[in-house]
Amino acid sequence: MQTILLGVSSLRSSQLAYGCWRVAGSWNPAEVTPESRAAGRRAIVAAYEAGYTLFDNADIYCRGEAERLLGEVLKEVGDMRERVLVVTKGGIRPGGDPHPDAPPRYDFSASHLIGACEQSLGRLGIETIDLYLLHRPDYMADPEEVAQAFSQLRAAGKVRYFGVSNFRPTLLTALQVACPMPLIVHQVEISLARLEAFTDGTLDQCLIEKITPMAWSPLGAGLLGDGAKQLLPAQQAYRPERVLLVLDEIAKSRGTSRLAVALGWLLKHPAKILPVVGSTNPQRIREAVRATDLELTREEWYRLLIAARGEPLP
Ligand SMILES: NC(=O)c1ccc[n+]([C@@H]2O[C@H](COP(=O)([O-])OP(=O)(O)OC[C@H]3O[C@@H](n4cnc5c(N)ncnc54)[C@H](OP(=O)(O)O)[C@@H]3O)[C@@H](O)[C@H]2O)c1
Repeated sequence: MQTILLGVSSLRSSQLAYGCWRVAGSWNPAEVTPESRAAGRRAIVAAYEAGYTLFDNADIYCRGEAERLLGEVLKEVGDMRERVLVVTKGGIRPGGDPHPDAPPRYDFSASHLIGACEQSLGRLGIETIDLYLLHRPDYMADPEEVAQAFSQLRAAGKVRYFGVSNFRPTLLTALQVACPMPLIVHQVEISLARLEAFTDGTLDQCLIEKITPMAWSPLGAGLLGDGAKQLLPAQQAYRPERVLLVLDEIAKSRGTSRLAVALGWLLKHPAKILPVVGSTNPQRIREAVRATDLELTREEWYRLLIAARGEPLP
């Protein structure tokens, strides 16, 4: 796979990233089995062997189990740590932490971010996280305090670069103004099932400030592929029927798959969107790479957009 630079940094990623959210086989650590862990490790190895060089993770994915699994593979597969970028996220706290009556919430306090980052390092079994993302905006976010936490983590050699996820453009700007280092990526949901980033200013800001947009759920969590197993609540309202027809028509005429066309549609955008592929199926993980050789025409791109909108352009 060809590579892209992330934001204004010197970090290079393959054109597709691999997302580790689903690798433990369940969102509930109590349901993880030795078989599901082994399947998750196989998926990560398949992604590495297929040429993915950015691995996206988060402390809350299966309560740390996804980070542990990636850490085990990084240790087992010679050279892998040197060849890939490890990305993880923090800032979300589950209910019951640290007291039984604590609600699920967001926490960008410096003490929480620094502690969460150190715990992620421990689970991943590495010295430095290449890119650390704030997972979802904290209603109580204080940009100066976040900037202090970032500076401390960078000075200690624990994190190389920083970014955000699911932010409003204005909050990203507020944080960037306070931070002495560039924020190099913004990870948001972007797909033919979720178009807001094209019109709410997110991708405009990425173009203006040279921030790399990472697209989570690039296949609408499976709705744009062969069906979804587990959807987030907002994704349950997606109705991809019309866009699936056009995806299949284009896939047929190009001799490729629905999956490759849906990812190729994201790759075509000038903001250099980095799709985060979330399949745990090695064959699909490899198939996704075909998207990087597919150059959709503007006409194909717009046919897909119009089908995804469900109504003509104004
Ligand atoms: N920042 C955030 O807030 C946030 C939120 C959600 C996700 N993420 C990141 O984004 C990554 C990707 O999210 P996602 O897993 O929802 O992405 P996705 O690639 O849109 O969906 C993957 C899901 O689709 C299924 N699927 C069905 N048909 C498929 C096909 N033909 N090809 C490929 N997959 C197919 C997969 O099942 P199989 O496994 O059986 O193939 C898997 O369950 C996550 O791993 C995580 O790193 C970030």
